[in-house]
Amino acid sequence: MRCSSGFWSSCSPAAAARELSRRRRRRSSGSLPSTTTTTTAGPAGNAKAGAALFKAKGCDGCHTFAPAGSNATTGPDLDKLAQLAQKANRGSEEAFTHESIANPSAFVESGYQNIMPNFGQLLSQQQIADLVAYLTQG
Ligand code: HEC
Repeated sequence: MRCSSGFWSSCSPAAAARELSRRRRRRSSGSLPSTTTTTTAGPAGNAKAGAALFKAKGCDGCHTFAPAGSNATTGPDLDKLAQLAQKANRGSEEAFTHESIANPSAFVESGYQNIMPNFGQLLSQQQIADLVAYLTQG
């Protein structure tokens, strides 16, 4: 009879289901590190430094962002970044924000032109991380 020597430790369907879910859990926790790496790759951001950069690099000249006191409308309203990220569906809000700064042409928000400077060549990885922390905090 198959059930005594096979894959399952028992013939009962309940025990089989338990075993299966144990295996699934193991597999998904095993893949956790790689998911975390994508979002935390690179240096950790400092939101306070990001706030200074937002002004120093002229982001406030094109974007509305309440914490910065800016209300420019050349680019999308960054107070709505969480919704914009969700709509764009290009990874987590952090990943989307990082890509939007480091490589603005990768995704151009509908209704806007591809005119944001390529900050991937103008800023260090640390500066980009700082801006991401500032824009996505709270
Ligand atoms: C010359 C105007 C201009 C400047 C300066 C500028 N941006 Fe933008 N930005 C835009 C425009 C236009 C878009 C929409 C087109 C696109 O998605 O690339 C955009 C898109 C974005 C997005 C993604 C929003 C979305 O829904 O696509 C983020 C995040 C962002 N900018 C952050 C910044 C930061 C941070 C800075 C400063 C380092 C900055 N921008 C400087 C014009 C600008």
